Amino acid sequence: MKQFNRRDFLKLFAATGAAVTVSTALQGCVSIGKASERSSVKFDHGVASGDPTSNAILLWTRAVPENSAEKQVTLGWELAADENFSKIIRSGTATTSASRDYTVKVDVTQLSPNQRYYYRFLGKNSKSPSGKTQTLPESGLRPLKFAVFSCSNYPAGYFNPYSEAAKDDSIDAVIHLGDYIYEYGADGYATEGSKEIGRGLPDNNNTELFTLTDYRRRYALYRTDQGLQALHAHAPFIAVWDDHEISNDTWKNGAENHQEDEGSFIERRAAAVQAYYEWLPIRPPQGEANLTIYRDFKFGDLVDLIMLDTRVIGRDKQLNYDDYRDVESGQFNTQKFQQDMSSDRSIMGKKQLQWLVNKLNNSSARWQVLGQQLLMGKMNFPAAAFAADDRSKVTPLLLQIAELKKRLQNGEELTAQQKAMVTQVTPYNLDAWDGYPIEREMLYRAAQKANKQLVVIAGDTHNAWHSELRSSDGAHIGVEFATSSVSSPGMETYLSLDTKTAEQLAKALPTLIEDLKYTNLHQRGYMNLFASEDAVEAEWVFVDTIRSKDYRVVNKHRARYTGS
Ligand SMILES: [Fe+2]
Repeated sequence: MKQFNRRDFLKLFAATGAAVTVSTALQGCVSIGKASERSSVKFDHGVASGDPTSNAILLWTRAVPENSAEKQVTLGWELAADENFSKIIRSGTATTSASRDYTVKVDVTQLSPNQRYYYRFLGKNSKSPSGKTQTLPESGLRPLKFAVFSCSNYPAGYFNPYSEAAKDDSIDAVIHLGDYIYEYGADGYATEGSKEIGRGLPDNNNTELFTLTDYRRRYALYRTDQGLQALHAHAPFIAVWDDHEISNDTWKNGAENHQEDEGSFIERRAAAVQAYYEWLPIRPPQGEANLTIYRDFKFGDLVDLIMLDTRVIGRDKQLNYDDYRDVESGQFNTQKFQQDMSSDRSIMGKKQLQWLVNKLNNSSARWQVLGQQLLMGKMNFPAAAFAADDRSKVTPLLLQIAELKKRLQNGEELTAQQKAMVTQVTPYNLDAWDGYPIEREMLYRAAQKANKQLVVIAGDTHNAWHSELRSSDGAHIGVEFATSSVSSPGMETYLSLDTKTAEQLAKALPTLIEDLKYTNLHQRGYMNLFASEDAVEAEWVFVDTIRSKDYRVVNKHRARYTGS
């Protein structure tokens, strides 16, 4: 496959008009312009803010002209210290056009640290909803609260976990770990029953996404969700993509859900990334004409939040168990598999890994939090469960093996065959860090050597997990807290589990999986992350339904990590 180069990317960006308006304090309160000079626009997709630093915040809106012939749009914007906008701190004008899908970004710089601000955009006769945001503390150990999300799938249901977090006034920032959209068409993954609940894909966007227009329309659709709009207006986002912002199981030169007859993967990815940068309140560290998204945020002296890209920038292709199974005999080639697993395959790319190691070495914060997509903890499942010839047998087998393991731990004698069922384990997901164990060890060793307090947060699986992170020699490295999905179906759907069985299996898994402390396999939700000098604590919040906008929080679980 053709290697991506910068020129290809720039070509796709050539038509882009005004990108990000930067407002500095020196400009003071630039006039928002006379109403007559502003365009008549509709603000149908709300407002957002993101990528806060101790002195800057990026503001976002989409302003579609009332008159579709109007190609260039001029707006005013205001940032105030109070929600009534009586104390305007900064203001100015911004422009946008069809070339960036009428999305607007204003990067307001030279603000005060640790301050709450309110903002809004103004058209000729219209006002956007107002948003609330805040800058980061510059120093000190003020306790922090993050709300962590991943995997919001529109046809699968209403984004009630976003709605719930939008009611919480104590959130410092929202961290989104990707799968903000899904690329499938109307008959694709997790679309069953979508029409019945009013979440069908519209006629002009009901196929799999390939072009810039396809991706843009999908973002526009997702941003009609009330919960998502409310949360964006409520707190600044720090976001990173996973695979579905492009296509399922993306790696650096392709994706599982990209076939040769679907055109150039590189062009598709460029379209997907352009739409992502247009629609997310994000300040890519090397600008919007660059794939580099990994970046870091300093929350005073308490947290260094390091956001990673384990998908696009450097990932080698995933291994696949099926490729090691002889078609005729069904025999698994263990030797070849282990050889490939222990080869020097990368999930981040060497450049990003080096960047991360430097960040860890130079971090003086109490906690080093890695915001990234995939489970990092070892998820070694009994190999016997993989051998089941249909999925309905997996859960009973796992429950049976968990019982055997308990008996073994209690000193009971097991037969050789029973013992093998307990001890022969293999990673269940080669798309996760488990498929890249050598690079995981490099990261672990770097954290250990630098003597850092590693807290890893993850999404991607659609279920909640709490694991201890341990290196291959068993040394304690840190903790992993992984959030459930906003709406994408999880293990309960994959294994067709009713609630009771899902709970039973969730209880059994920490017995089977050595480093696993807790999991929830059937409920949608999000995860609060509290950081203080003493501890980092995760609180999983689960809702009863996503099939209707009426929901209740029905379950919570907390776990505390005091460091090493
Ligand atoms: Fe997902």
